[in-house]
Amino acid sequence: MIKKAVIPAAGFGTRFLPATKAQPKEMLPIIDTPTIQYVVQECVDSGIEDILIISGKGKRSIEDHFDRNIELEAHIQEQDETLYNQLRHIESMANIHFIRQKELNGLGDAIYHARFHCGNEAFAVLLGDTIIDSVIPVTQQLIDAYEQYHQSVIAVEEVPWDKVSRYGIVGGAPLNDRIMQINELVEKPSRDKAPSNLAIAGRYVLTPEIFEALEKTERGKNNEIQLTDALRIILKHENIVASTIEGKRYDIGNKLDFLKTTVEFALKRKEFAVPFEAFLRKTINDIDGKVKN
Ligand code: G1P
Repeated sequence: MIKKAVIPAAGFGTRFLPATKAQPKEMLPIIDTPTIQYVVQECVDSGIEDILIISGKGKRSIEDHFDRNIELEAHIQEQDETLYNQLRHIESMANIHFIRQKELNGLGDAIYHARFHCGNEAFAVLLGDTIIDSVIPVTQQLIDAYEQYHQSVIAVEEVPWDKVSRYGIVGGAPLNDRIMQINELVEKPSRDKAPSNLAIAGRYVLTPEIFEALEKTERGKNNEIQLTDALRIILKHENIVASTIEGKRYDIGNKLDFLKTTVEFALKRKEFAVPFEAFLRKTINDIDGKVKN
């Protein structure tokens, strides 16, 4: 049983500047819901209610978002019952804890901050800037694989070969059409050094051995403590499987992906679908018209 999740959310968000100069990238909303709320919802939908968020400097609004705001609730309750219930849902959706990463030393170092919280239990990791839309929550897909194989599980997805240097890349041998036994892990390799085009997709289930491995992990890519390098240490004495995600991944820290996510999610929202689709069609037609003239 996986009962705990860790959400690293301490990074600078440099790819989304200037919007992230004074607000966390994890709070960038897709329509009206901050990215990190979708991530917390994925934990809850996967049966996890104990969540540790690794926050840091300038991230206080994440704590405020999951806290009560009694004055606001009282004000909204009189005007809009549905919205009031939505606000009450946010503060009660999970048992959320926070710890601050004081220096930004990489994803591996962020996860190391969870050692006392997770203790001797396997736990899930969900990157706070990545939403994955799927029928079965991706964390649930990893938990199912963990229960079958009793090994750490890494979510992966195929990426175009010219993008492998943006990701952690895994190599290995397929066990079935979705699961692979990993025998290689490289953080952000150049195209010629990548063992495959299967990229680590921002979701993991990790055994507690990761903390010991992180203690031994030296600074790697970008002079940071990389989670991928710690997983490579684990691979020397433990097996790890990769599970290809069934779902669509949205990297909110990237401006173009953020725009695409907003459009796709708006088209799925009942109150926006019809007028927004009409707007998009008209906009495209106008562009086509201008190109022809
Ligand atoms: C991190 C991980 C990388 C993974 C990626 C997924 O990199 O280090 O292995 O592929 O997340 O988004 P980052 O994007 O934080 O540099």
